[in-house]
Amino acid sequence: MHQNDTPPAPDLFTWEFAADPYPAYAWLREHSPVHRTTLPSGVEAWLVTRYADARQALADQRLSKNPVHHSEQAAHGKGKTGIPGERSANLMTHLLNIDPPDHTRLRRLVSKAFTPGRVAEFAPRVQELTDRLIDGFADKGEADLIHEFAFPLPIYAICDMLGVPPEDQDDFRDWAGMMIRHGGGPRGGVARSVKKMRGYLAELIHRKRNEPGEDLISGLIRASDHGEHLTENEAAAMAFILLFAGFETTVNLIGNGTYALLRNPDQRERLQNALAEGDESLLATGVEELLRYDGPVELATWRFATRALTLGGQRIAEGDPVLVVLAAADRDPERFADPDTLDLARRDNQHLGYGHGIHYCLGAPLARLEGRTALATLLRRLPDLRLAADPEDLRWRGGLIMRGLRTLPVEFTPEASHAAG
Ligand code: HEM
Repeated sequence: MHQNDTPPAPDLFTWEFAADPYPAYAWLREHSPVHRTTLPSGVEAWLVTRYADARQALADQRLSKNPVHHSEQAAHGKGKTGIPGERSANLMTHLLNIDPPDHTRLRRLVSKAFTPGRVAEFAPRVQELTDRLIDGFADKGEADLIHEFAFPLPIYAICDMLGVPPEDQDDFRDWAGMMIRHGGGPRGGVARSVKKMRGYLAELIHRKRNEPGEDLISGLIRASDHGEHLTENEAAAMAFILLFAGFETTVNLIGNGTYALLRNPDQRERLQNALAEGDESLLATGVEELLRYDGPVELATWRFATRALTLGGQRIAEGDPVLVVLAAADRDPERFADPDTLDLARRDNQHLGYGHGIHYCLGAPLARLEGRTALATLLRRLPDLRLAADPEDLRWRGGLIMRGLRTLPVEFTPEASHAAG
């Protein structure tokens, strides 16, 4: 029997935890809201699980994104960022690894090229890509929505936006596939894929410098701030982080989002009815709710204490890593009514799925566009979509930062038969 009737601390980072981490997060929020743990890699870190603490930590300037502040990094001279292969490919100087003033300068430059207006212009292209991918399986009556839909859509979308020519996009699909399969692990294949991507991007940037177009890479090259331009290395690291940050996240928004809708038939029916009536407002609040309920980024990326500080009543030493658990904060009952219930019409929904503060997701407008287009088109074209597996048999990826399914088998009436009927 446990003293004070406190249930025992849950095991973290097991397969069961990966399948449903929410009960463990509820325990942490209640009993150990700023919790010291040993990660599967052996690194010790603090997990922050309450909404108020999470929001504070994400905006706290004493927590640096630069891995030089990690005490273990100082001791061992190693990088620790969570992004596979970036160090070996010289892609470290990107937004998620730097602090002001460098972050402010680079973010201002990229914001000039990656504007909400540019994203909005891209809407017809995202719709076309979505329809083309659904065409690939709509008549089969079954599909793995991760491999046939959620995975290719964002990689083609971001390649198009960056200005990667169509004939090279399948190479990116292969490299990205390698990163998502083995992401986080120190496998040779990942490092090789990142190096190939890096080599390709360097060449593309060089080409676009001589022959600029209307694409994002040309925009990055052109963008200047008080006469300052991005160096070629900064532009390559920027293109890489846009690819990396915009890829697996969106795969998981489509995957986790579709899965949540299939598990909550009343909500899915409500959305389908609203779409059939031409009302897109539920789609907009719905995608935000799916991000809150089971978002793609389970833990925000690494932060390191630049000096000793107190967070949620807990003393954190200089050099300690701090990981903000977005998935736990977004189910905090102190902030959200009925946090474990999916409510697509939820209005008071300031979730942290896109982060908060100066590192708030730069690609949120593109992610929203892709998420809304993908989910609405799937439900419109395959109205009786259903899960073709026992939820218990579905496997979740084991990575630390991202949360997503390995496969999502579905079945449905082939599209050709309802066109005929
Ligand atoms: C549903 C999809 C997405 C989700 C849930 C998501 C989530 C996030 C989160 C939580 C952060 C902050 C991480 C932190 O503070 O540790 C972030 C940052 C970022 N995201 Fe996204 N993201 C998504 C899609 C995208 C897309 C499509 C792009 C671009 C093409 C993108 C580009 C970025 C960039 C560049 C940053 C770093 C910003 C900075 O450090 O200033 N993201 N994202």
